[in-house]
Amino acid sequence: MRISIAGTGYVGLVTGVTFASLGHDVILVDVIPEKVEMVNSGKSPIYEKGMDDLLSKLVKEGKIRATTDMKEAVKGTDVTFIAVGTPSRDDGSIDLRYIESVSRDMGKAIAEKGWHLIVVKSTVVPGTTEGFVLPIVEKESGKKAGEGFSVAMNPEFLREGVALEDSMNPDRIVLGVLDERSEDLLREIYERIDAPILVTTPTTAEMIKYTANSFLATKISFANEIANICDRLGIEVYDVMEGVGMDHRISPYFLNAGAGFGGSCFPKDVKAIVSLAKENGYEPELLEEVLELNERQPLRMIELAEKVVGDLNGKKVSVLGLAFKPDTDDIRESRAMPLVKGLIEKGAQVIAYDPKAMDNFKQVFPEIEYAESAESALKDADVCMIQADWDEFKSIDYDSFGLEAIIDGRRTIDRKLKTPHIRIGSGVIV
Ligand SMILES: NC(=O)c1ccc[n+]([C@@H]2O[C@H](COP(=O)([O-])OP(=O)(O)OC[C@H]3O[C@@H](n4cnc5c(N)ncnc54)[C@H](O)[C@@H]3O)[C@@H](O)[C@H]2O)c1
Repeated sequence: MRISIAGTGYVGLVTGVTFASLGHDVILVDVIPEKVEMVNSGKSPIYEKGMDDLLSKLVKEGKIRATTDMKEAVKGTDVTFIAVGTPSRDDGSIDLRYIESVSRDMGKAIAEKGWHLIVVKSTVVPGTTEGFVLPIVEKESGKKAGEGFSVAMNPEFLREGVALEDSMNPDRIVLGVLDERSEDLLREIYERIDAPILVTTPTTAEMIKYTANSFLATKISFANEIANICDRLGIEVYDVMEGVGMDHRISPYFLNAGAGFGGSCFPKDVKAIVSLAKENGYEPELLEEVLELNERQPLRMIELAEKVVGDLNGKKVSVLGLAFKPDTDDIRESRAMPLVKGLIEKGAQVIAYDPKAMDNFKQVFPEIEYAESAESALKDADVCMIQADWDEFKSIDYDSFGLEAIIDGRRTIDRKLKTPHIRIGSGVIV
């Protein structure tokens, strides 16, 4: 199949590389010429395990290429996946500006060709594919949906850090379609992937994605709520969750207490569904508290540090891990941001380190100090705070640095240390 993908970010690139690996011919489209050039020279514009090698192999084989020319990409393909960003507006509602502009481009591009399928892969609030994308494409193309083209919704569930693995081995494939032709085409694309396929409407497919992310975010905030209770009762929350997660109705995943969730999806998607619920006359109090607890949770690391070392004013605090989680350079909504902001407000001197995310973080916090390695960040530090559990942080000889305390936001260190080592929910300090 000849496939074009609008948007060469985390989702567009991973989807493109996955489809090309399955044998399809893929054209990626982006508005940023530097990204397009990088892809065409076989280099990945994002950090993702295994991506550089696979991309350069597929580019050499001619299975994937990139362009800034949407018309040319659409003309030479049978189907286009939309994978542009869908950020939050200031009020938390979804910002559809990129979806709008790409839908216009799509409309113009399909005006001059035969039947084409447009598949929304971006996370969009229920009703967007049929009620927003479809009418724009109809207007711009002068064609009628169902006759000249069709739209579908195929949500993405990959996790950054293990994105290629997730994309090749998904738990399920959700196809939100309006007609059989679109379903058949999408089934053909995914033919070589061994996963159950759920066929539904585009609007239900959109809601499935929001519900899944809201549930996972709720699970994390729930674990953090229990951790904060455990701290008051002197109970180790990880031991509690081990027992809780053995219940097959609950499962052991997403029960890790810590500094809260970040990333490009959970915070923005929960905010978007909260906003949509309110617009429709419902106050989603449970989901609002999930978000609020998540804002307070990284500050719990500061609270714990103060309990051990007192006032942080003038203390040298090394923050390890700036990405929202390990194995990615993505800092969107990383809990390192409220943490670093809180430390600056307390008058601490922050020295930060991350294996991949420092360049991105420097753009937001140019005023703090950055270290070349975890060890140099810890040299002369008073307190160490671990915000993302990169593997390399697990084997550091923390006792050799003369630290007053280590506040572990992710249960990174699982061994006894001489240095006071406190985790959120470890039940040793209130
Ligand atoms: N990142 C994830 O882990 C993840 C997982 C599942 C779903 N999603 C969803 O997928 C969507 C994309 O997320 P992402 O993380 O890949 O975003 P991203 O910001 O990394 O990438 C978006 C890309 O789209 C490009 N773009 C913008 N306007 C364009 C246009 N008119 N034509 C062509 N390209 C255009 C941008 O330049 C950028 O390269 C979002 O809706 C997100 O919620 C993301």
